[in-house]
Amino acid sequence: MSTLDEILPKIKTLGIIPTLPIVVQPLISVLQMEPEQINFEKVVELISYDSTIAAQCLRMANSPLFGRQNTETIRSAILALGIKRIEAIVLSCCLNRIVPPEKWALESVTFWRHSLGCALVSSRMAKLIGYPDSEKAYLAGLLHDMGILVNTVVCTDEFRYCFQIAGRGHKSLHLCEDAYLGFSHCQSGGILAEQWKFSTDLRAVIEHHHDPEPAPVAPPLVALIHLSDLLCRLRDLGYGYYEAMGVDLSGEHAWQVLVEYYPKLAQIDLARLTLDIDAAMEEITTVVDAVFKPQPSGSHNAAHLTK
Ligand SMILES: [Fe+2]
Ligand SMILES: [Fe+2]
Repeated sequence: MSTLDEILPKIKTLGIIPTLPIVVQPLISVLQMEPEQINFEKVVELISYDSTIAAQCLRMANSPLFGRQNTETIRSAILALGIKRIEAIVLSCCLNRIVPPEKWALESVTFWRHSLGCALVSSRMAKLIGYPDSEKAYLAGLLHDMGILVNTVVCTDEFRYCFQIAGRGHKSLHLCEDAYLGFSHCQSGGILAEQWKFSTDLRAVIEHHHDPEPAPVAPPLVALIHLSDLLCRLRDLGYGYYEAMGVDLSGEHAWQVLVEYYPKLAQIDLARLTLDIDAAMEEITTVVDAVFKPQPSGSHNAAHLTK
């Protein structure tokens, strides 16, 4: 059994893992500028250097979320998606690259369905409750479980065991990690988030999304992602197995946090909100399936991409 102290040095080496393409660092730096300072042509150029990122941008731009626009160029994909959405795609592609295919305990498609589902639910919920930055909510939803990838890489066998135990017992994965590893993907994800210099808000989500009560920063964002994660796991966008849990939204501490920050929520009919999210779930599942549906080999590869 590993302890967090033992895996810490391993996690730190992920920060300099050479598989991160050279294009990514300048791209992230450009994308994190103020919107009015971003050089659009530079973004198009940097994305065109990386066929995986470019292909994922095209897939997303052509998904039902953006109206299946038959987008064929990187430039029009970026225009359709918006710069903020590009940052989320770039970071998720980078994260995907840290996991060698043979190390996955849960299917990579299952993981990304859950992450994208959570991103979409988070951004939808953000708009419904009046949270001011739905793109930030999307990014936080997409990356909240990145510690699962860290555990998959740095303690592969022990994490696989946790995942099997959780699946067989219909238990929550983070509780099995706590019991068998002594830490969960919240802590290991937090370490990688620090290493990759994520914002403090994003780190707070990654570290506290299963236990939002003590979130030291960004309590509303952490609460929002906590609830989106629960809703996804309850509605077939979880980790690929049934989890025995019931959720009463109004009884969740995270909901109380949101009501505290957005008092108007106290007047909201919770049954109606749940129905709205349920209705969105159908659309979200369609988007997730469109993005992760296996592509015919050779489609959207580097040879087909044009700026
Ligand atoms: Fe999680
Ligand atoms: Fe999650």
